[in-house]
Amino acid sequence: MEPIKPVNVAELRRMREAGEKIAALTCYDASFALLEDRAGVDVILVGDSLGMVMQGGTTTTPVTVDHVVYHSRCVAPHLKRAFLVADLPFLSFATLERALDASQRMMQEGGAKMVKLEGGREQASIVEYLAVRGVPVCAHLGLQPQFIHKVGAFKVQGRDDAAAEAMLHDAKVLTEAGADLLVVECIPSDLGRRISEVSKVPVIGIGAGPDTHGQILVLQDILNISPMVTLGRKPRFVKNFMTGGVDIEGAVAAYVREVKSGVYPAAEHSFGDAALPKPETAAAIPAVAGAAAAPQRRK
Ligand code: KIV
Repeated sequence: MEPIKPVNVAELRRMREAGEKIAALTCYDASFALLEDRAGVDVILVGDSLGMVMQGGTTTTPVTVDHVVYHSRCVAPHLKRAFLVADLPFLSFATLERALDASQRMMQEGGAKMVKLEGGREQASIVEYLAVRGVPVCAHLGLQPQFIHKVGAFKVQGRDDAAAEAMLHDAKVLTEAGADLLVVECIPSDLGRRISEVSKVPVIGIGAGPDTHGQILVLQDILNISPMVTLGRKPRFVKNFMTGGVDIEGAVAAYVREVKSGVYPAAEHSFGDAALPKPETAAAIPAVAGAAAAPQRRK
């Protein structure tokens, strides 16, 4: 039997060059880490979505570096192949020193191989500061849930030409600053395609259409058990993989298979398809679990 080759930044770039779709999923604990790794998930993210999925909160704001480190430590030792990314939570990268300190903890204590941070070109100096010190960085563009209290409500980003051009520029600036991976959330499919075409690094989409180099979803969403799904507020881009009598591992394997083959996401999971109604308003991007009146949504 071939020895298992752990996924790394070079492998992600190779996959992108070879046109092999990258299957990414969130994870917060050992049981699912083992299962996701075995099912062939390429990239595992300990996202600050843990604030909603694990802690039952209404936003990601209360999530701390300690929380993400804790969950990364639960996940990291159980991965033989998957590449572990840890989210830098709200304000943990507000200064260069804080970003470096938080990243050091994610990698040394949490066992992460990369950190992810939300924001556009304004984060370029942070990305560069980390990257030149050996911290692989994933930038996160489009919908940025850490800004909920600033923007009040979330809707699909990059809808008009100016916003789309600005996001393309952000992607360029952040990769030039040293980002090795991009996540793009809740943007029209054609913008997802354009960013993927021009980006020098792999682009992973969530609600960004079928043409990104990979897809990421929240584990509990695809298992149809997240608070948001249970409360009937499933985002458009979420697909329930617990259908047809599969068990949990079968559902995760089906997700990987559908991402790799391009079956997921279909038009019904994407934004900006002219043939479909456009539910891209805040009302259609549902409020989070337990916050029926809140304007925000979980990533
Ligand atoms: O926090 C998270 O889980 C994320 C992904 C859904 C992209 O940022």
